[in-house]
Amino acid sequence: MELKELEEKYFFKTYKRLDLLIERGEGCWLITKSGEKYLDLFGGLAVNALGYNHPAITKAIEEQIRKYTHLSNYFLQEPQIKLAQLLIQVSGFNKIFFSNSGTEAMEGAIKLARKWGAEKNKFNIISFDNSFHGRTLGSLSITGREKYRKGYEPFLPNCIQSKFNDPDELIKKVDESTLAIVLEFIQGEGGIVEVDSNFLKTIANLRDKYNFLVIADEIQSGIGRTGKFFAFEHYNFKPDICVIAKPIGGGLPLGALLGNEKVANVFTYGVHGTTFGGNPVACAAGEALINQIKEKNLVDNAKQMGDYFQEGLKMLQNKFPNLIRIIRGKGLMIGIEMSFKCENIVAYMLQNNVLVNCTNENVIRLLPPLIINKEEIDFALEKFEYVLKNLKD
Ligand SMILES: Cc1ncc(COP(=O)(O)O)c(C=O)c1O
Repeated sequence: MELKELEEKYFFKTYKRLDLLIERGEGCWLITKSGEKYLDLFGGLAVNALGYNHPAITKAIEEQIRKYTHLSNYFLQEPQIKLAQLLIQVSGFNKIFFSNSGTEAMEGAIKLARKWGAEKNKFNIISFDNSFHGRTLGSLSITGREKYRKGYEPFLPNCIQSKFNDPDELIKKVDESTLAIVLEFIQGEGGIVEVDSNFLKTIANLRDKYNFLVIADEIQSGIGRTGKFFAFEHYNFKPDICVIAKPIGGGLPLGALLGNEKVANVFTYGVHGTTFGGNPVACAAGEALINQIKEKNLVDNAKQMGDYFQEGLKMLQNKFPNLIRIIRGKGLMIGIEMSFKCENIVAYMLQNNVLVNCTNENVIRLLPPLIINKEEIDFALEKFEYVLKNLKD
């Protein structure tokens, strides 16, 4: 039986797979079994920050595998500690906890907030419409997008939704019982939508007045993607808790939550934990990833290549104003809002050897590896122009 038929036979139908059989990856490119090359502009949905088959990541994984692939969290683990040190240094937070995934890190953040608020009579968590925070029930309880929530009720109590970037509605919902506000500074699944600086000022003022925690979901936007190490740095805002995942294990499953001095002593022995979180091989790969990002100035590259990409896209927008509505985002987290549902564009780009992703129905989302260069961007722009031209004619 063909792989495709076997997949259909054995799997729950949760994923719509692309019709490609990948043999291997090299840099920003994926190569199929038949030898065809595809430029990957969504890079494992922001996981493959160094692209595919990066020698520094491969070396770190190989070396660690020969030492130990797992140790329980009863042991001190050198790879965990080295990665923790790097992440604390670049973020300025005080404490870290490693999980296996983004949604688990978010669950940890919700638990950390709950413990912090337990004796303060604070219990309401406010999150925003169109947000995405993961698929486990805690994370889903604070996720705004209806598409992911439908049919999974009842959710956690005391999770309140407010309109993103609407300070007046938020003011009405915050009071002494507010435990935390959770937000993506740039909403990813929601279509690459940035937070307003005015809205952030309101959040900062409310935090000063009511003393709650601000939790930044940097799972998609973090680790250099937006041209700063964390998206919140663009807005001069310091969250109390920050949740990261996606690229931090160099392609292996890893997530983390970071907290400031306000929450530094909230978790005590045994109150939170995980069997696999902070896997040493994933942490060794993560250490190699962060070192490469620093050594190769990949945060700057994300900014420069992101600007270059957006310039090219804006030229296309001038050529096709009826098709491209808005281009937005920062660094290599770019959304192209089309005037129509963009699933077809994904298919046409695939026919032209470029992989793009569509979110929120009409937004083409680009999350390429941070190592992408101008030639690769030119290739993508040329193909995009060709696709748009042929749509128009
Ligand atoms: C902003 C954001 N939060 C949370 C998650 C969930 O992460 P994971 O899929 O690793 O559980 C994602 C994943 O796409 C995300 O983009």
